[in-house]
Amino acid sequence: MNDRKKINIAQPSFLGNEKKYLLDTIESGWISSIGPYIEKFENEFARYHGVKHAIATHNGTIALHLALVAAGIKSEDEVIVPDFTFVATANSVRYCNATPVLTDVDPGDWNIAPESIKANITSKSKAIIPVHLYGNPARMDEIRDIAKQHKLLIIEDCAEALGAKYNGERVGIMGDIGCFSFFGNKIITTGEGGMCITNNDELAERMRILRDHGMNRTKKYWYDLLGFNYRMTNMQAAVGVAQLEQLDDLLKTRDDIYLSYQNAFKDSPGILLQETHHQRSVNWIFTIRMQGLSEAQRDAVMADLKVKNIDSRPVFYPIHKMDFYQNGGFCRMIPSGSNLVSQEGISLPTYIGLDQSDIRFIAETLKESLAIHVNK
Ligand SMILES: Cc1ncc(COP(=O)(O)O)c(C=O)c1O
Repeated sequence: MNDRKKINIAQPSFLGNEKKYLLDTIESGWISSIGPYIEKFENEFARYHGVKHAIATHNGTIALHLALVAAGIKSEDEVIVPDFTFVATANSVRYCNATPVLTDVDPGDWNIAPESIKANITSKSKAIIPVHLYGNPARMDEIRDIAKQHKLLIIEDCAEALGAKYNGERVGIMGDIGCFSFFGNKIITTGEGGMCITNNDELAERMRILRDHGMNRTKKYWYDLLGFNYRMTNMQAAVGVAQLEQLDDLLKTRDDIYLSYQNAFKDSPGILLQETHHQRSVNWIFTIRMQGLSEAQRDAVMADLKVKNIDSRPVFYPIHKMDFYQNGGFCRMIPSGSNLVSQEGISLPTYIGLDQSDIRFIAETLKESLAIHVNK
């Protein structure tokens, strides 16, 4: 029997002004998508990234969709996306009736592989969505070179990587638009929430109009475009402002958690961490590959952790395996990197408040389980 408290995979932390600002929105009555916290959150987010525009949205999935529509992506267009990512990256392209081209990832850093991007470029290619998976920046130098050479837009999916840097530059500002998520398990949260950032005035204006039903910015109830209600609420933004105030501390605590896990696994050669390139990764959810494991063995390890009250997650399944991505020419090459990382990967508890003894217990339990399953 195990009498330790349950260790969750993730949990939000509200240690700053969240309640105060949230109460403020309720007392003021500004609870929908008009109110001072929205502008403040956008301005502070833009300032943090040193970028001209930040456009807040109701979640990260529609931030991606908004970016793609504003960028003019439409049917017949192809957008290169990793095969190994959260499904929203690819789905957002399909919402535009365009084709997401599912592209293999590097089994070392688990991010979209520049050489596979090149192999997937056709005359219909319009954009690339690199995802900085699990907080680890993709190889942006090479991706930018490819994009420049083939005149492709770059929309960075930074949902999991707020605060990460590549060659000293923050993720989100290395392409045309950067998109973020503030779901409850993210680096900062607003419950649900998202953001698009850009230095491009025209794209920013289109995103602001499209976010608000396509309404003319000066003529009320006159619609210039077929738009959406993708707005963030003042209540969400109030929580976002308070969370952003704590971002540096939150990232530091997550770094410490990463180092503790790294230390706990340092004598386990079969446990592989994501490789990094010229970058400052952020520890969104500590995730490892257990080399040589089948998917069934990985799932058995997760079951053992569960018995000890430790929550864990499989990594994402390759998108090409989903029924609704089977036909339609989405995946044109065998994504061996994506298949491999997906079968061996497991995410472990990562949140503010997880302590050293929890991490030691998780690592020891996992190692014991591996010893049982690895040779079965
Ligand atoms: C890589 C990636 N892209 C997009 C999203 C979508 O964000 P949201 O859940 O806020 O819609 C997520 C979130 O889980 C994600 O991890």
